[in-house]
Amino acid sequence: SILEMEVEQISKGKYEHYMQKEIHEQPESLTTTMRGRLIRDGSSKRKSVLLGGLKDHLKTIRRSRRIVFIGCGTSYNAALAARPILEELCGIPVTMEIASDLLDRQAPVYRDDTIIFVSQSGETADTLNALEYAQENGALCVGITNTVGSSIARSTHCGVHINAGSEIGVASTKAYTSQIVVMAMVALAIGADSISTAQRREGIIESLLNLPGKIREVLKLDEEMKDLARSLISEQSLLMFGRGYNYATALEGALKVKEVALMHSEGILAGEMKHGPLALVDENLPIVVIATRDQCFSKQQSVIQQLKARKGRLIVMCTEGDAEAVCGGSCPVIEVPHIVDCLQPVVNIVPLQLLAYHLTVLRGYNVDQPRNLAKSVTTE
Ligand code: G6P
Repeated sequence: SILEMEVEQISKGKYEHYMQKEIHEQPESLTTTMRGRLIRDGSSKRKSVLLGGLKDHLKTIRRSRRIVFIGCGTSYNAALAARPILEELCGIPVTMEIASDLLDRQAPVYRDDTIIFVSQSGETADTLNALEYAQENGALCVGITNTVGSSIARSTHCGVHINAGSEIGVASTKAYTSQIVVMAMVALAIGADSISTAQRREGIIESLLNLPGKIREVLKLDEEMKDLARSLISEQSLLMFGRGYNYATALEGALKVKEVALMHSEGILAGEMKHGPLALVDENLPIVVIATRDQCFSKQQSVIQQLKARKGRLIVMCTEGDAEAVCGGSCPVIEVPHIVDCLQPVVNIVPLQLLAYHLTVLRGYNVDQPRNLAKSVTTE
């Protein structure tokens, strides 16, 4: 009806699509996610993380034998992005489970496990079924959702709301970045009793405060990503190589492209390149290589060299000022602002969200409601 159309227009504001709006509102959604949660410690200058829904369970979590992340789709990818910082700050083994796969295997779950369920909607059937299974096996169940009062929020022992605001586009964008930030804050909270990581934690908290500004900067790549999309409009396939903190970025970037632009895309762990993917490389297949500055940078540089030696058609994502260093001006680059390693995936995903968005519009597909997909999959 006309009224519905008008309401939709008002809620989209100046944007043409919800996905576009949700990508561009990330500086604000991330600010809301952090609001009231980064606090000053008593009279000292130190800052720490306060997560009201978790604080009474931190001792139990610290004593658990392992932490297991469970999710589907984008929520799984967000957990994967946060895994390294959780491992580093908590010193507890962290394993990853796709919800349906855990159930298919009826994998062992124990009383001394902490299981973190990640779901934007809080209603995904696979995740909910895995939650029921974990409850039966006596694990401590933590929920990370964007929906107050959702089934997952209600059925977990404790949890954290990501407060990203309602997300309407089927392809998740702002929920992804807020999920990573919440899980980084969870890592900071669990690790808060360690003296040896105090400086590292302070550095991360400082960077969290700077994050919305960095997102505002990286969003300026919009036009550049549109041009890049134009150059890829009639491709059959697009690969994305990442590792370390940005393995998840490769998976999530590829998921966006396949979900909305309806183009085949795979995120590949760069460390596995020689074990198969290298056979696909030729002068035609476009490959995005994520090579921003962190502990893995030199390894990614050598991946770029090997791909170049096989005449690979590269698009390199690098840290601002590194274009010359990473590919000597011989390929398109996506230069992004630098931030502390564990938050770099939050910055790096943004240009890939923009790329998927523009590819979709240019290819003439439905951005907000991709063919065959649903925002919330409530059946098995
Ligand atoms: C569906 C949606 C995805 C989403 C996934 C998990 O597949 O299309 O965008 O990532 O479900 O949803 P959840 O609400 O559990 O995060």
